[in-house]
Amino acid sequence: MVGYAFMGAAHSQAWRTVNRVYDLPARARMALICGRDTGKVAEAADRLGWEAYTTDWRDLIARDDVDVVDVCTPGDSHAEIALAALAAGKHVLCEKPLANTVSEARAMAAAAATAQAAGVRSMCGFNYRRVPAVTMMRQLVADGRLGVIRHVRATYLQDWIVDPQFPLVWRLQKDKAGSGALGDIGAHIIDLTQYVTGQLITGVSAVTETFVKERPLPAGSSGLAATVDGDGHRPATGPVTVDDAAVFVARLDGGALATYEASRFATGRKNALRVEINGSLGSVVFDLERLNELEFYDATRPAAEQGFSRILVTEGEHPYMSAWWPPGHIIGYEHSFTHQMRDFIEAVATGVDPAPSFADALQVQLVLDAVGRSAELGSSWTDVEPALATVAA
Ligand SMILES: NC(=O)c1ccc[n+]([C@@H]2O[C@H](COP(=O)([O-])OP(=O)(O)OC[C@H]3O[C@@H](n4cnc5c(N)ncnc54)[C@H](O)[C@@H]3O)[C@@H](O)[C@H]2O)c1
Repeated sequence: MVGYAFMGAAHSQAWRTVNRVYDLPARARMALICGRDTGKVAEAADRLGWEAYTTDWRDLIARDDVDVVDVCTPGDSHAEIALAALAAGKHVLCEKPLANTVSEARAMAAAAATAQAAGVRSMCGFNYRRVPAVTMMRQLVADGRLGVIRHVRATYLQDWIVDPQFPLVWRLQKDKAGSGALGDIGAHIIDLTQYVTGQLITGVSAVTETFVKERPLPAGSSGLAATVDGDGHRPATGPVTVDDAAVFVARLDGGALATYEASRFATGRKNALRVEINGSLGSVVFDLERLNELEFYDATRPAAEQGFSRILVTEGEHPYMSAWWPPGHIIGYEHSFTHQMRDFIEAVATGVDPAPSFADALQVQLVLDAVGRSAELGSSWTDVEPALATVAA
């Protein structure tokens, strides 16, 4: 694994847990973790349960006993690491968004297609697909329980940079992150809604904004936390080069209309991901703050009995749940990563392609790109380039 901070910890937890919960055809051995700082990566290896550590990710690629490379670094190193790993015949799990640009994502999808012919698998870490209630939403749509999908309404709201003194971490720098709220959290709701509905976004009209344009330089950072130099001097500042918020409307290829909002300035909203889907036969609502639940409205029921019902998605027959606890004993955020590792290991061990593939993640990247271009063009309608044509080209 490369990277040992936020996602490094979440993925490590999942790698540690997955074989103890699920009966799988292969066991994960946590062989080697990479970070740039010797002291910190040594401490992380010990704390997170890795056998060894290194400060150069090329060591992972060079080792014969490493079969899988898990990329948990910021977007500016995804392409380089993933391309080298695939070329060396390593299966790759790469965090989202797949890359910082469409051209990087295109190269990664092409490399994944080439590697796939030799039995090498790759997957992008859109973990929210693996929240059981979200997986169940997809099943309801696929089973026709919602009828024809008319509306998709998706919001992903955070507030960790409302304070203008919050430092200029890598997530606020275009060269490191590619984009801001759009690629970081907007990418999740793009993938989630396309996965649930089975429909792809074909075009968008967008606005984006950077509310705070200059911020103090950070002394240190990890995940969504950071510190500023506390030596009593006014800290040096730098420009914020990404969006703080992105809002867009979209058309989906099955005829649905969709709205998306991704913001880091939604005061009071910590990690509020909510999706509502309305169809001709019913509606379904998912709220990450109540991730064990699904609200379902079934319009085929007798009129007197209609209303949103709350389904507690903890039964053994619900997706992923049979291996966990008795019904009603709820799960949380980290379980989505365990489910991700379960599906990845199973796919690799049985020789099938896991999803979302790099081609799927390239398609999300093309949506992000269309949103960015639309916003630059005063919200003008912007078509999303078809992903398959791009991979083949
Ligand atoms: N799936 C999710 O829900 C989710 C949540 C948060 C972040 N992410 C994604 O995970 C990735 C990492 O985000 P994070 O929040 O963990 O960031 P972070 O800042 O917490 O951690 C980044 C890690 O990468 C390491 N790193 C950076 N460049 C490196 C290099 N060249 N070689 C080796 N190590 C390097 C850093 O030392 C650090 O350990 C991003 O792509 C982000 O979008 C996904």
